[in-house]
Amino acid sequence: MHEITGDNINLVKENMLKGKTPRESQVEMTELVLPNDTNLLGNLLGGKLMHWIDIAGAMAASRHSNRVVATVAVDSLDFRHPARMGELVTLKAKLTWVGRTSMEVTVNVYAENVKTGAIIKTNKAYMTFVALDDEGKPTPVPPLIPETDEEKEDYLKAEKRRNERLARKARGY
Ligand SMILES: CC(C)(COP(=O)(O)OP(=O)(O)OC[C@H]1O[C@@H](n2cnc3c(N)ncnc32)[C@H](O)[C@@H]1OP(=O)(O)O)[C@@H](O)C(=O)NCCC(=O)NCCS
Repeated sequence: MHEITGDNINLVKENMLKGKTPRESQVEMTELVLPNDTNLLGNLLGGKLMHWIDIAGAMAASRHSNRVVATVAVDSLDFRHPARMGELVTLKAKLTWVGRTSMEVTVNVYAENVKTGAIIKTNKAYMTFVALDDEGKPTPVPPLIPETDEEKEDYLKAEKRRNERLARKARGY
């Protein structure tokens, strides 16, 4: 048996982190689109939506890691349909992949017309967060255990997305 010394104590702690499923940390957040959140056409402001996406994604990453997290990357964000004033916007955030200290989260956004009950998917985003310790340094996160076929597939695709992000970073953006 190996002795636990100051040198390898962090490695031992890392290996002891218990895996979690995406379901355990998923977040659903609903907001009402108020007049102050809209442009002159009565559509939800893109910046406001990006703020909500960041918050929903960070909550899921914090739940998974039990840490404060920082956003390090936001992939392209498509605006497929506008959300209108008076509609409910629901953001569903779920972990898709984890590395050593970083986590990829997907956020799907839906707009709901409360009068008709119609719900449409308006946006989808992939974001990367890093778990930080009390000194603000990257710190290890628990492994992710994908459960469904879709989660397993997304986990594999996430590796490719991560490589593209790191290549972009290496090129200096
Ligand atoms: C978060 C931060 C402390 C990490 O520091 P760092 O020097 O990049 O740390 P590392 O190089 O060790 O990277 C940490 C992890 O992030 C990943 N990472 C860093 N930049 C990344 C990027 N652009 N895209 C994807 N992953 C990235 C690394 O691959 C590593 O992942 P791993 O541990 O899972 O392998 C630093 O990047 C930072 O302060 N960024 C600004 C964060 C911020 O202000 N966000 C907005 C407000 S929350």
